[in-house]
Amino acid sequence: MVDFGAQYAQLIARRIRQARVYSEIVPHHVAAATVVERHPVGIVLSGGPSSVHAGWAPLLDPAIYEAGIPILGICYGAQLIASQLGGRVERTGRGEYGRTPLSRLTPPDHVTPPDHLGGSDHVTPPDHLGPSLLFADWPEGGSDVWMSHADSIAEAPPGFLVTASTPEAPVAALEDRQRRVYGVQFHPEVVHTNHGQDLLERFLFDICGARPTWTHTNIIEAATEAVRSQVGSARVLCALSGGVDSAVAAALVHKAVGDQLTCVFVDTGLMREGEGLQVEETFRRQFQVDLVHVKAADRFFEVLEGVTDPEEKRKAIGGTFIRIFEEVASEMAAGAEALGAAGPRYLVQGTLYPDVIESGAGDAATIKSHHNVGGLPDDMDFELVEPLAWLFKDEARELGEELGLPEEIVWRQPFPGPGLAVRIVGEVTPERVAIVRAADAIVIEEVKRAGLYRELWQSFAVLPAVRSVGVMGDERTYAYPVVIRAVTSEDAMTADWARLDYDLLERISRRIIGEVDGVNRVALDITSKPPGTIEWE
Ligand code: XMP
Repeated sequence: MVDFGAQYAQLIARRIRQARVYSEIVPHHVAAATVVERHPVGIVLSGGPSSVHAGWAPLLDPAIYEAGIPILGICYGAQLIASQLGGRVERTGRGEYGRTPLSRLTPPDHVTPPDHLGGSDHVTPPDHLGPSLLFADWPEGGSDVWMSHADSIAEAPPGFLVTASTPEAPVAALEDRQRRVYGVQFHPEVVHTNHGQDLLERFLFDICGARPTWTHTNIIEAATEAVRSQVGSARVLCALSGGVDSAVAAALVHKAVGDQLTCVFVDTGLMREGEGLQVEETFRRQFQVDLVHVKAADRFFEVLEGVTDPEEKRKAIGGTFIRIFEEVASEMAAGAEALGAAGPRYLVQGTLYPDVIESGAGDAATIKSHHNVGGLPDDMDFELVEPLAWLFKDEARELGEELGLPEEIVWRQPFPGPGLAVRIVGEVTPERVAIVRAADAIVIEEVKRAGLYRELWQSFAVLPAVRSVGVMGDERTYAYPVVIRAVTSEDAMTADWARLDYDLLERISRRIIGEVDGVNRVALDITSKPPGTIEWE
């Protein structure tokens, strides 16, 4: 998938993978030779915010059109095909945004025979007859599609058939069957386009001849094989956080190299309720992984004493985590040395594919190591093992289930590295952590009971640094409020506050006040991101 800066670039790649076809994202300036070297069965050109008329418009290396590989252009990608191959794209001033009815057109009425096939006076060649393969699963007349474009293709390039139109876009789909170059002005990757996935699958299977081999079994096999050949017989360390990424990475590496793996779980005292026990249960008892469980809450509370600045908190926690991890690693190395063996040489990280793309690796083919998980420093003397670096989060979750990880770990909502500390405004003390942890457990339990846990990106409790007056029984209280924070989001870059049902809010509020000591009021955060952030610190 060639990325032209589309809002939906990752979504297109995920949709292709949902069809069990492997896809990776490359930047638009990719050279034809690099593409050809990777032997793709097909190329998708994404949409993007540019206009083909802008001087800085990102272009496709024209040699890619000549490589004999089927191409599907989406939105800007389709306009680029039109403009680079001799058609016409216009700024009509009549953009189309949102759902639009699309009408299918059946050649040969709309054929523009190419010059090399005899020009417009000649009979249409037989393979120009009949409806488009792309729309084979669509209703005869057409269906609704999702549009988002300002420019419009006004004229298809020579050799192309126009296979669909909408009220505002006379050329909503076009194709050159001989060259196997296709373009659609709409977005087949979004759910608002009926039959969008069908269209992508027709392109993949009927036009590119792809095979649906990107299955869990194959992914696990390939990933474990890659880990085995990378680490050989060396020892491997993995820092477990309790979250899904490190857990799936550890489970995969364990499947690959068994007891060469040692997992380290540092209990910072800032974890969610039951997290430590869950990690013990899953990794030590179920998977029988060699697990070092460092109970270090005291050390973390010590460095957090009197710290109220959010960034200082993060630094104090990150620094302590690293020190502890280094101590464990050097103890292991010393222990191994005493036995005449080598210490751990590799470190597992649960880096995911979006981290790789976003950290600017650009060309996914030249994937590198990314020290972004667990906050471990660059100068640690380990080589990295990143078995999930080709996977999207939903794929990592599916793999986790396949590997036998419990649902609670696989579907756990994201949790910040510094843990509950960034949900406590002001000083982090054991007492205040106990309050926010207990309140958080109630929020999670009630959200799960309401069947919303997977739907929400995050839902948790926050403890501000104020107290207010209340009355409980016959007594005046002066205690903390707890703020409920629940958001929906696709990627945490933006988020919307979740419209939780009043009855659910009432249950959470009643339980927090009734069950958590030190709280006399519950409030709801109704701020989206931006302008707020998801966490309070
Ligand atoms: P914000 O609060 O910036 O959070 O909207 C966006 C996402 O990132 C998570 N988050 C963190 N994750 N270390 C982490 O590993 C951190 O210091 C950190 N701060 C925020 C947050 O939970 C949300 O999913």
